[in-house]
Parts: sequence; structure tokens; C-alpha cells
Amino acid sequence: MVASCIIGAQWGDEGKGKVIDLLAEGVDFVVRYSGGNNAGHTVVIGDQRYALHLLPSGILRDNIVNVLAGGVVIDPWHLVSEIEKLRAVGIRVEPGENLLISNSAHLILPHHRLQDQAMEELRGKGKIGTTGRGIGPAYQDRANRSGLRFGDLADPGRLAERLRQVVGEKNLWLEPLGQDRVDVDELLPALLETVEVLWPAGCDTSALLRRWLREDRAILFEGAQGLMLDVDIGTYPYVTSCSVGLGGVASAGVSPRAIDRVILVAKAYTTRVGEGPLPTELHDETGQRIRDQGHEYGTTTGRPRRCGWLDAVALRYACEASGGDELYLTNLDVLSGFDVVRVGTSYEIDGESYEVFPAGSPKLDTVRVQYEDLPGWDEDITGCRSFTALPAAAQAYVDFLEKTIGVAIPLVSVGPGRDQVIPRNRG
Ligand code: GDP
Ligand code: IMO
Ligand code: MG
Repeated sequence: MVASCIIGAQWGDEGKGKVIDLLAEGVDFVVRYSGGNNAGHTVVIGDQRYALHLLPSGILRDNIVNVLAGGVVIDPWHLVSEIEKLRAVGIRVEPGENLLISNSAHLILPHHRLQDQAMEELRGKGKIGTTGRGIGPAYQDRANRSGLRFGDLADPGRLAERLRQVVGEKNLWLEPLGQDRVDVDELLPALLETVEVLWPAGCDTSALLRRWLREDRAILFEGAQGLMLDVDIGTYPYVTSCSVGLGGVASAGVSPRAIDRVILVAKAYTTRVGEGPLPTELHDETGQRIRDQGHEYGTTTGRPRRCGWLDAVALRYACEASGGDELYLTNLDVLSGFDVVRVGTSYEIDGESYEVFPAGSPKLDTVRVQYEDLPGWDEDITGCRSFTALPAAAQAYVDFLEKTIGVAIPLVSVGPGRDQVIPRNRG
């Protein structure tokens, strides 16, 4: 079991950062294969809390080479500032040494951010609630074959030519919306200056990854976002713009078949940032209580996360669609103090019952959820370190989820800290 992939199984923010940091011990490489700085992965080590957006979560451990592979979209200004912030708190980030960047990774440039914001305004009430980081437009340009990639920075003459062409086209689109024109004569030198620090990191990471796989080196592929935000299997159009799951690994130049183990991560309840259907959302005091107890505010944008009970219909679907081998359950501690904990086990749409998630249905925002109610528990469980030390009701909740979702839950997390984990003892 040397190549593992960690994937969020809900709408993002499942605690992937914590899980990756945990599993990164003894690993040689941590590889981001999708998304960009729309992600926010939190790792808590002692009293220090790190929020990683683009840098892989292995950057906090020594002796790990971190890779931004093909499939990732990179805002160079953001990346440089993230590196500087980490260095300021004593974390070693050395492009070319413990950070490598794929020459195939696409760049997020200022016109992508402007376009993201302009499109959200145009969508009005139908807005997606994007992070505004230019993610969608950068992936749009990738698909449209007009994107610029990290490797393009090697040849400033050709880069200038391509920039003039693509920025010229973008300006035609942006200007009538009252957006500022992007000036290539300003952009080009600023870009070249910014990427100077990143430059030693650029290489063909796909060849390296395939070599490391052949050599049986331990690799963690770090998923971003969550499967319900996947551009195909998620709640389209309220999704991000890339493949979040195992299929996304192909963009790194690696066959998904090379991955030995797929670990899904889900919270013990549901959260979502941004717009779109969230069938188990609670608009009442209980929802606010989950938000307060779980400190559910976005790592990237600070927006309050929408909260609700665990949606087993959506989670079962995400687990099946992604071929997860096991599920790590986080934030179980947040559910302490509720008389009853509820799990959404089926949907009703127009009087018809659905146990299988109705993917592609335009009626997802009209779903009525049928719940199974389980007894709650009062105890603070953040200090529990064995499954049997958990209150019986908390154990029963995890057992119930495992049965309902149909995927083994070998690890439960009861707090943000590195040590706040419980391996599940089925004996
Ligand atoms: P990611 O995007 O999947 O990496 O998740 P985020 O970092 O955006 O959000 C997860 C939040 O939950 C972070 O603040 C974590 O520190 C925190 N967290 C992770 N696991 C646990 C847990 O088991 N219990 C509690 N209370 N917080 C957790
Ligand atoms: P991590 O990796 C939660 C959401 C945005 C928005 C939608 C599209 O921390 O789990 P985008 O900027 O990608 O075009 O926005 O996707 N979103 C996330 N929500 N966690 C994330 O990442 C997210 N990345 C994007 O809020 O609804
Ligand atoms: Mg996050």
C-alpha cells in the first residue's frame, strides 16, 4: 500500500488537511492533483494552526517532497505569498527541493480573477458563490486551449506573444462589463518577477511521479474540494470546475490504477460554503449550534458554512462513485450535547422516495429528507483515544454510519489536533 489518495466525500472542508498531515508521517511525496487556492486545508500542530491553500499539506513535515502536479491551477502571486507566510513562521519551503511544480499546471492570471468576479455578478441570484479566485475561468481556458502553463514561463518571447493574444481576447469580454483592462506590458514583467522564486520548482512532475511509483516510493495524493463539488458527479452547476476524485489523478500524468488505496474523508455532519442544494441544511438553532460548536467558518473566505445533519444519501453516492476503500470520519466531537443526532437516509421528491442520490435531477433543491434519529451523547469526547472509550451512543452512531454507507470507517477524529484520532477497534 504505497500510493494512497485522500478525497473529500462531501462539499469540501471535511478535514482532509488533518488526515493528510496524519498519513504523511513516513511518506516520501505529497501531491496536489486538482483545484487551486480555492482550497483551504487546516493542519493543527500543537498550538500552531496552519491554513494551506495551494501548498500540499506535506510541506509541514521534514523530508517530504511536495508536488503541485498537472491538474492544479496556480496563481503565482498567491503561491509566492503562501510560501512567504510559511517561511515567516519557520517552515522550510524551497522550490526545487521540497516543492516541485508541474510544467503542465495551468496559471491563474489576473484576468481569470476579474472574469470570475464579473461572471458571478452577471449570474445575479443564480450565482455559484465561488471563492472569486479565478478557478473556473482558468479551467475554462484550459479546456478551451487558451490557457498558459507553468512551463510556458520558460520562454519570455513566446509567453509575451501568447499573453497578448489571450489577454486581448479577455479584454474584449471584460471591458463592456466595466472591468479594468489587463495591460500585458504591466502584467508580463510583474509575472516574470514573481515567478523567479518559483522557477527552480518547475519540471516534468509526471515522469517523476511514474518513476517514484515504479520504485514503490510512498506517495499521498491530496484531493481538494469534495466529491459533491466535482464538476461531473457533484451538484452541477453549483460545483467547482475540475475532477475532484480519483479520476483527477490522471491529470497528473499518473494512471488512477496506480493508486493502491482510496481514503475518503467526511465530517460526522454536513457543511457547505457557497450556493447550491444542501438537502439536510438546518436553518434553525440546531444548525447554528453545529456551526458554533464546529467553528464552521470557511478557511479560505471566512464565510459562515451552511450546516446540517449528515446526509447518508449523498455520502453513499460519493463513496460509491469514487470507489473509496475506507472512510475517515472527522468532527465527531462536534456532535456532543445533542439529545438526538439525525442522519438523512432517503429523499422524497414529488412524493417519490429515493435511497439512491438522484444525480443530475434539477429538483435537488426541493428534496424532503427522511431521517433516522439516533440517541445523542453529552460527554466531551475530545480526550478519547480508543473506540471503546467513546460513549455507547457515539459508538452506535459510527456503527450505524458504517452500515448505512457501506464503507469501513477505520478512523474517527475527535478534534483538530494531530493526536485527536481514534483507530477503530472492531474486536
Ligand atoms: P479541509 O479543507 O478538508 O482540509 O478542511 P478545513 O481545514 O477547511 O476544515 C476542517 C476544519 O475542521 C478545520 O478547522 C480543522 O482544524 C477542523 N478539524 C479537523 N478534524 C477535526 C475534528 O475531528 N474535530 C474538530 N472539532 N475539528 C476538526
Ligand atoms: P477544500 O479543499 C469548500 C466551493 C465554493 C463554491 C464552489 C465553486 O478546502 O475542501 P470555485 O472558487 O472553486 O469556483 O467555487 O466550490 N469550494 C469549496 N468549498 N471547500 C473547498 O476546498 C472549496 N473549493 C471550492 O465555495 O461553492
Ligand atoms: Mg477547506
